[in-house]
Amino acid sequence: MPLIEIKNLTKKFDDFTAVDNVSLEINEGEIFGLLGPNGAGKTTTLSILATLLPPTSGNAVVSGYDVAKHPTQVRRSIGFVFQDPSSDDLLTGRENLYLHALMYGVKDSEIDKKIDEGLALVDLTDKQNIRMRKYSGGMRRRLELARGFLHSPKILFLDEPTLGLDPQTRENLWAYIKKLSTENKITIILTTHYMEEADMLCDRIAIIDHGKVVALDTPLNFKKGLGGDLVTVKTKNPELTELEKMDCVKHVQYKDGLLNLTVNDAGAHLQKILEHVGEAEDVELHSPTLNDVFIKLTGKQIRERSDEGEGGWMTRSMHAEKR
Ligand SMILES: Nc1ncnc2c1ncn2[C@@H]1O[C@H](COP(=O)(O)OP(=O)(O)O)[C@@H](O)[C@H]1O
Ligand SMILES: [Mg+2]
Repeated sequence: MPLIEIKNLTKKFDDFTAVDNVSLEINEGEIFGLLGPNGAGKTTTLSILATLLPPTSGNAVVSGYDVAKHPTQVRRSIGFVFQDPSSDDLLTGRENLYLHALMYGVKDSEIDKKIDEGLALVDLTDKQNIRMRKYSGGMRRRLELARGFLHSPKILFLDEPTLGLDPQTRENLWAYIKKLSTENKITIILTTHYMEEADMLCDRIAIIDHGKVVALDTPLNFKKGLGGDLVTVKTKNPELTELEKMDCVKHVQYKDGLLNLTVNDAGAHLQKILEHVGEAEDVELHSPTLNDVFIKLTGKQIRERSDEGEGGWMTRSMHAEKR
């Protein structure tokens, strides 16, 4: 039996549909990703699963309990790491964990042990007595990860766990999330709009756009589904019929001076292909990424900016105001 069963889940804010008839089953032990652009409905979906928002229609069963009928039982079985920072700056890392242990009713006799384990898990043992306001962004997220897991939930929700972090810190955090998943029997559901994050971490991914699940599969299958490597050539006069005749070429598209080819084992055939691309200015070859999958499914790019820090935060505070 799946650990989480979502059936025809819909959430409306007035007449705006943020989550649109979503059905999903998530299995025990999985790292399951909800991947989609800003505003796709990821946080809203997690909030419903975590009983923070009531669904408009449809239902979700988390760890055997219906979120609308048995919110208390659901809450006992989950941990949540929010998109926005939610730890107390004036407290030390350890004190933040202690407060959380009290709120979640961790047994007195176990509190110290759990906190020590949590700190060790995210390598913050030697920073435990420093106030959180002196933590870097990465340390803060690590502490929040340990905190979400402190009361030993069966399921952990991570909402955009690496939003706004620099690429190196992000990779570092991925390692902790993986470790949490492999060393503990925990199911993780995370949301992200970073393709590489979903690719690196998730066993399965639901791609969501405008509140709807547009596809569901493993990262590998998604990429295989594109059927080959991608060759992009900026050129003026490609020999399209010649290219189409080639066995290794699976798909040819030419638009606005840009030639897009889907090619089996492009590395081996590139020489031959280049004979027919015309006056090429620029050639790019890459293995399919989830970004290509997203473009194919939705016809648009997921926005992935390196200056995420600011844009991301701004968008979020606008959401916060609306609420
Ligand atoms: N409380 C709310 N009231 C009105 N609209 C909301 C509220 N919360 C979210 N929305 C809207 O629902 C859509 C989905 O939001 P959200 O779930 O936060 O998306 P994501 O997490 O994928 O970026 C957005 O268009 C957002 O503006
Ligand atoms: Mg969100």
